Amino acid sequence: METQQAIYGRRSIRRYTAEPVPRDTVEAILAATIRAPSAKNAQPWRFVVLEGDPARQLADIMQQTADDLSARGDDIGSLSWTAAVVRQAPVTILVYEAAPPEEIPLHAHEDYHFVMLQSVGGAIQTMLLAAHDHGLGSLWICDVLYCTEPISARFGRAGDRLVAAVSLGHPAESPGPRPRRSWQELTRWLSGEPEIRR
Ligand SMILES: Cc1cc2nc3c(=O)[nH]c(=O)nc-3n(C[C@H](O)[C@H](O)[C@H](O)COP(=O)(O)O)c2cc1C
Repeated sequence: METQQAIYGRRSIRRYTAEPVPRDTVEAILAATIRAPSAKNAQPWRFVVLEGDPARQLADIMQQTADDLSARGDDIGSLSWTAAVVRQAPVTILVYEAAPPEEIPLHAHEDYHFVMLQSVGGAIQTMLLAAHDHGLGSLWICDVLYCTEPISARFGRAGDRLVAAVSLGHPAESPGPRPRRSWQELTRWLSGEPEIRR
């Protein structure tokens, strides 16, 4: 697939068919994902692939959290809707940022996190494009951050930080492009005559 076609054709997909995603396709997507650039080539991404029962358990955790928060009168945003997407998707991949190495001093943790989080974000976008290239739909999900603790308690990766989840599956919808503000509106472009050196 042409890169332009992948970038412009990708959509967030929130309805999937029941058709399973073959394991070697998920493996190929992960192999592409780790080609993303990362600061100092630290490759700070970590993954937990959930299929079948574990994937349904993730949806249960999300729905339970939504119910508990609603009962307390808290705002749950799109959590319940996203739980329903996860329940439908044949595969959901949890994406973590690896715990900082021991040699990073405590006071530098926030800067380190800021840099490594960018690297993980690049990997997630690469994952979405690779999934699209394989004819799969995907959804980048941060609603899992409502339930970081029960997710980590159930699926592990203690010490690492949950960043997002990505659902994958054969699309059962084909939405058009979602609106974007124009790049012209969002970009300040500075150019000037090159300085003349004497
Ligand atoms: C960091 C991030 C978090 C997101 N979290 C969710 C989510 O939890 N649930 C959801 O339905 N969509 C989520 N989305 C998808 C966005 O809603 C979607 O990308 C946006 O509306 C634009 O649509 P498009 O991806 O089809 O262009 C997330 C996207 C990003 C980049």
